[in-house]
Amino acid sequence: MSRKFNFSAGPAALPEEVLQQARDEMLDWHGLGLSIMEMSHRSEAFVSVASQAEQDLRDLMGIPDNYRVLFLQGGATSQFAMVPLNLMGDNGSADYINTGIWSKKAIQEGGRYGKVRLAASSEDLYFSRVPSQDELDLDASAAYVHYTPNETIGGLEFDYVPETGAVPLVADMSSTILSRPCDVSRFGLIYAGAQKNIGPAGLTVVIVRDDLLGKAAATTPAMFDYKVHADADSMNNTPPTFGWYLAGLVFQWLKRQGGVAAMETVNRRKAEKLYGFIDASDFYANPIEVGSRSWMNVPFTLADSRLDTRFLEQSEAAGLLNLQGHRSVGGMRASIYNAVPESAVDALIDFMRDFERRNG
Ligand SMILES: Cc1ncc(COP(=O)(O)O)c(C=O)c1O
Repeated sequence: MSRKFNFSAGPAALPEEVLQQARDEMLDWHGLGLSIMEMSHRSEAFVSVASQAEQDLRDLMGIPDNYRVLFLQGGATSQFAMVPLNLMGDNGSADYINTGIWSKKAIQEGGRYGKVRLAASSEDLYFSRVPSQDELDLDASAAYVHYTPNETIGGLEFDYVPETGAVPLVADMSSTILSRPCDVSRFGLIYAGAQKNIGPAGLTVVIVRDDLLGKAAATTPAMFDYKVHADADSMNNTPPTFGWYLAGLVFQWLKRQGGVAAMETVNRRKAEKLYGFIDASDFYANPIEVGSRSWMNVPFTLADSRLDTRFLEQSEAAGLLNLQGHRSVGGMRASIYNAVPESAVDALIDFMRDFERRNG
């Protein structure tokens, strides 16, 4: 077996140690004679796994006691509906910041449940940078302000947390959660699909301030009501037990790495290396302004797009997988989440340098 370097945007690379541990525990979890996937979510064993995972996430992110952590299903996409259903109230209005494809999807879905106001958009700049705090046109009576700290497809990322005063800030952190420290108390609600920095697809993590619970619109399905899940400790129905367990292993792995502060150091270095190489070359280019560049998803183009296919074929042959950009934008994209080691970035840069030498 030889594991290759995986630059997938999601489902994405998982730490090898975590996969090995899951393999070792697969058939017989802790001597109980069955797999974690085969036991009741209400069993003592699973409940201990579930609560340890929550505690580890709380420790890693420094989540204050007045926030609930929910382990849900439905992906981040379900949150595009759950957020307005729970927070907008009847006839409510919410502010949204548009920085790319994912924020647009949230805006479109949010508009089905209430009034959506655009607080800022970088669309006229081809999403080449995030709006600054000064450019945010915020409504003090909005139910919340929604933004996407990291646009996974466009590769732009906020380098600051928007200041929204008393209006709760809601963040789709799917592709940047746990990549560095974050002051949770600045947010009303954080959500993330797991399949990038948390664990396997199928699990969605929601961190919500407890005063925002219990305000769902009357017609909200029970499975879309945060309070229903909070009251049932995320076990209103059968939760995604394997995803929850595996996320717990990832959280323990993160703690062994030194937590999110240590990840920040490595992630910053990985991103600086790759952008530094791209900027120094006339052959590769990244369209995002320096201050808005994503640490997690690095899109880049080749000077001659006719070389794209060759680049992808040869990079794959060199053991560098999933470098194709999103189908909506083309070009290349290297996703370098927590579980992508620095050696993968070094190998990618070596390959890119060599490819340029041969084709430039
Ligand atoms: C920022 C962001 N939001 C939302 C989604 C959608 O997530 P899901 O497929 O879990 O619904 C993605 C998926 O890549 C994403 O990157």
